[in-house]
Amino acid sequence: MTDLPATPYEGDPHIGDVVVGTEELQKRVRQLGAEITADYEGRAPLLVGVLKGAIMFMADLAREIALPVEFDFMAVSSYGNATKSSGVVRIVKDLDLDLSGRHVLIVEDIIDSGLTLAYLRKNLLARHPASVEVCALLVRDGLQKRDPDLRYVGFRIPPDFVVGYGLDVSDRYRNLPYVASYLE
Ligand code: IMP
Ligand code: MG
Repeated sequence: MTDLPATPYEGDPHIGDVVVGTEELQKRVRQLGAEITADYEGRAPLLVGVLKGAIMFMADLAREIALPVEFDFMAVSSYGNATKSSGVVRIVKDLDLDLSGRHVLIVEDIIDSGLTLAYLRKNLLARHPASVEVCALLVRDGLQKRDPDLRYVGFRIPPDFVVGYGLDVSDRYRNLPYVASYLE
């Protein structure tokens, strides 16, 4: 990788190789926006961002969707340690909007085991939306315990833990403008 932009983490020993670069992100987000625009023609999808990791992706994606959209956000916390999901999920911040009859598009930063998403999907489906689909920026290959049924996927990535473009370790590195592997 050449010509990396200067970042606040220059020289940080925890930031490893670039996994998805800034330009790749931009290009793929544009494609996903075009796909969503075509698929939801004539409708106004409700984007449900999963805080906090999805905020960069959702902000960029929304601007590539040529339809009226609405935003809502949910925060969930999974009991478990910092880098491993336990599958037991608790809602920390619920949605503000009523989902009945809405076309809901869950926007997630990364799907690892798929447990967080499985919980979210089930929870949102119980609120009588017209549809629920998922748009995930990243999917860590091979680890999903159940088929997560993802309508839109940005990139499939290898097993390394990653940070940047919204993804964090202990709330750090979210403003790194690309996705990088995290070195312990
Ligand atoms: P899952 O329930 O195992 O699919 O975990 C998904 C959640 O774990 C994501 O929404 C992230 O918040 C977090 N997560 C998983 N892998 C990473 C990573 O590589 N970097 C940062 N957060 C991650
Ligand atoms: Mg998350």
